Amino acid sequence: MSRVYVFDHPLIQHKLTYIRDKNTGTKEFRELVDEVATLMAFEITRDLPLEEIEIDTPITRAKTKVLAGKKIALVPILRAGIGMVDGVLKLIPAAKVGHIGLYRDPETLKPVEYYVKLPQDVKEREFIVVDPMLATGGSAVEAINALKKRGAVNIKFMCLIAAPEGVQVLQEAHPDVDIFIAALDEKLNEHGYIVPGLGDAGDRLFGTK
Ligand code: PRP
Ligand code: URA
Repeated sequence: MSRVYVFDHPLIQHKLTYIRDKNTGTKEFRELVDEVATLMAFEITRDLPLEEIEIDTPITRAKTKVLAGKKIALVPILRAGIGMVDGVLKLIPAAKVGHIGLYRDPETLKPVEYYVKLPQDVKEREFIVVDPMLATGGSAVEAINALKKRGAVNIKFMCLIAAPEGVQVLQEAHPDVDIFIAALDEKLNEHGYIVPGLGDAGDRLFGTK
């Protein structure tokens, strides 16, 4: 079974409060999502492999460590996942970025795929799929299906807010994919929205209705 990590760092929780607040406007919402994505990226990259190199400090020759150059690809689920991309790239600027376009049919709540574009060397990359919301889990499961269908074998999923229902669905469908979240909320409401949640992430990020 996959592992679930909840990043309850005080800075993340503080910023998440203002992200949730319905009085927070588009500009501030976008900035806060970006900042939380950076903070989460710091945690999610904790296990990146290092290699030893030798350098000269002003004092002496020293053996020290640098990143081993692991190939990472970030994959936002369109649209709302886009809001987390720049924040993650601040810490791993060399990552490639793929895109998976899905929207949730408002009647059935089932995800509908409309776009997939990935880096070419899918098998060699570690993928980080990002989306602010994990609600029923349908979009995350479908996005990861799309990645695996194209050969991806090493995948993590990162979101801001998850419902317990979505976590369970994702874990059952993809037991090999670890899940990284900033907050695990209470439940879904009858429209498939996370409670207390933050509302519609895409609409709040892009100022649409
Ligand atoms: C939202 C969100 C997730 C999905 C989560 O996207 O960004 O992708 O819903 O819900 P689920 O876990 O029940 O599938 P939405 O379908 O609203 O599309 P958008 O990002 O284009 O607004
Ligand atoms: N998608 C959102 O944007 N918000 C939710 O609460 C659930 C799905």
